[in-house]
Amino acid sequence: MKVAGKPKRLEHPKSVYIIGFIFKIVTLLVFIGVTYQVTFSHHGPGLLIPMKKKMDEKQRSAILDEVRQQEAYEKHRHFHNTVEYPKLPENVQPVCYICHSDYPHSKSKKVRALLNMHTQFFVCETCHIETKEGVDLVYKWYNPLNEDPQGPFFGTSYDSDTGNLAEVEDQFSKIAPYYRYGERLESALQIQDAPLAQDYMNVRDKLTPEQRDNVKKKFHVSIKPKGHDCKDCHSKQGILVYNDLGFSLNRTVDLQQLNIAGMITKYEKFYIPKLFSY
Ligand code: HEC
Ligand code: HEC
Ligand code: HEC
Repeated sequence: MKVAGKPKRLEHPKSVYIIGFIFKIVTLLVFIGVTYQVTFSHHGPGLLIPMKKKMDEKQRSAILDEVRQQEAYEKHRHFHNTVEYPKLPENVQPVCYICHSDYPHSKSKKVRALLNMHTQFFVCETCHIETKEGVDLVYKWYNPLNEDPQGPFFGTSYDSDTGNLAEVEDQFSKIAPYYRYGERLESALQIQDAPLAQDYMNVRDKLTPEQRDNVKKKFHVSIKPKGHDCKDCHSKQGILVYNDLGFSLNRTVDLQQLNIAGMITKYEKFYIPKLFSY
């Protein structure tokens, strides 16, 4: 017989709700698991695997393969160039390398492998130098061991037999910025003060953050924190005059068209999230 008052059955104990919630989660997980098993898993019928393969194929590119490889190396904290480069003797290394590694970019996961790859053929300043009001910057190949390098330079042309980049003897030249004053070109590279930088590396653990910042500032006088955008070079109106730098016509077109063919935007929109998300 019912007793007047609140119907007792509505007053479930809290634990019932919790158990119910857990059941819902478990059901959801089982559902996701089964769906994956049926569609993409290699242990099931794999209904959607061919479709995924097809999409992956469309996104393949030789250029990106190299970057992808570098990303994989990076992931294992095992930095390596895909191509082994001979090292410059320490006394002619740009001073930046005393404090920064060969792979200085680490913050943005999306582009760091690409930016680090670019340091194989650019000095840091090519991307990081501050412009001066009213002074033009021009770019030339720079070789610390050779006052007037003549090339051919790395990556400027293709080997017509293999279609790969042509092999070159000059392994040290990199593109560097110069300020132009009339006819005169003046290197925009930092005045090197290797002893100070070296000293800094030896004692930096003993310095206060302010002291550290002060030394750092000496080397960053005309360095901007952010480098150039991709489009500043990979476009027809870019800052580099590819012809003057010795790039062959077809190589120039390929480098510029990273943009023209929509490659950069395509790259940003869809290679990057896919490529760098693992
Ligand atoms: C004496 C050591 C030292 C030298 C030499 C040096 N840097 Fe740095 N740099 C630093 C430190 C320390 C930071 C802070 C980075 C960090 O917090 O990881 C830094 C940061 C940077 C940044 C990021 C922006 C910023 O200010 O935090 C850029 C870009 C940079 N350096 C470029 C260069 C370039 C290019 C050169 C060569 C001209 C150079 N650095 C030489 C120590 C140095
Ligand atoms: C191809 C152009 C390019 C070159 C060459 C280049 N940088 Fe950068 N650098 C950039 C860009 C672009 C950013 C900003 C990246 C971002 O927003 O994550 C950057 C950011 C940085 C940062 C701070 C952010 C980070 O990723 O840790 C440091 C430090 C740095 N560069 C150092 C260097 C040094 C040292 C060199 C020379 C060995 C160098 N860069 C050469 C384009 C370049
Ligand atoms: C300062 C100019 C400059 C900037 C900035 C720059 N690049 Fe480049 N990039 C070049 C040049 C020059 C080469 C070829 C160098 C060589 O082979 O000697 C190159 C090569 C490449 C390659 C390899 C092409 C190939 O066929 O080997 C890719 C991919 C690339 N850049 C993408 C990018 C992306 C993405 C960005 C922006 C995150 C960027 N670049 C920023 C100038 C630049």
